Amino acid sequence: MKGIVLSGGSGTRLYPMTRAANKQLLPVYNKPMVYYPLSTLMLAGCREILLVVNPHDVESYRRLFADGRQWGLEISYAVQPKPGGIAEVFLLGRAFIGKDRFGLILGDNLFYGDSLPAVAERGATGKGAVVYAYWVSDPAAYGVVEFDAHGRPVSIVEKPKQPKSNWAVTGLYFYDADVCDVAAQIPRSARGELEISDVNAHYLRQGRLTVERLGRGYAWLDTGTPSSLLRAAQFVETVEDRQGLQIGSPEEVAWRKGYIDDAGLARLIEPIRESEYGKYLQRLLARG
Ligand code: TTP
Repeated sequence: MKGIVLSGGSGTRLYPMTRAANKQLLPVYNKPMVYYPLSTLMLAGCREILLVVNPHDVESYRRLFADGRQWGLEISYAVQPKPGGIAEVFLLGRAFIGKDRFGLILGDNLFYGDSLPAVAERGATGKGAVVYAYWVSDPAAYGVVEFDAHGRPVSIVEKPKQPKSNWAVTGLYFYDADVCDVAAQIPRSARGELEISDVNAHYLRQGRLTVERLGRGYAWLDTGTPSSLLRAAQFVETVEDRQGLQIGSPEEVAWRKGYIDDAGLARLIEPIRESEYGKYLQRLLARG
């Protein structure tokens, strides 16, 4: 399965933290932010990954991920010359997508919940477009879905002034390869961006959009403002400290999913033995 992580953007809401560093490389507690969405795609079964990054950040991402082989992945990079909207990824990624169904995740989104892998796998194996909605207190900041009495989606509107519901579209999506043609037909919005909500609304009009609602047992956090970044870090610290299990470790996911074997994990641990992260991975390996 193919997956795309969108890791560009301008991160203006996090200035001055993002003046020199890309947003998705900032830490969420004990890992770079981008580890969390990458792990989510890996849990959904994506092993061929395209990372969309800003021109001056390519080298940093290569230092972090190289070609992904160490985690049993195949990682390649696409440069987005300037942030032109989330749906621009379908134009930039056309060659990578080819004729295949794929997952897309925003590099600043953190998902957590017991049956998340199964939920994401349903998107991976579904038809048309599959997106996820989550009940939030501030829907006006997101793409908002309105449902009819039978729970079917009837509209999707980006950042509505008067939201029709509290159901926000999250930053995890699955599409068939037709999405590249859909994105090519869509006009840019007033803010000059190709809007993902317009793409999803197009699939909705064609009757090819599935919206799965994530219940209250899930956490969907984004990390785009100073306070949401801090809350996400506190959430990760709270759960990890309580359980002694880490959230969003690509090494752990790769090992548990069988993308790498014990010897592969041991090789990853060697250079980082003395760090807390390295010690955590050593405990996993020792427990077997
Ligand atoms: P946003 O949070 O909407 O935008 P941003 O990251 O540029 O931040 P700000 O609003 O503070 O300026 O982006 C959501 C995610 O999508 C984020 O992970 C960055 C990514 N992104 C791109 O990779 N390219 C783009 O053109 C846009 C708009 C976003």
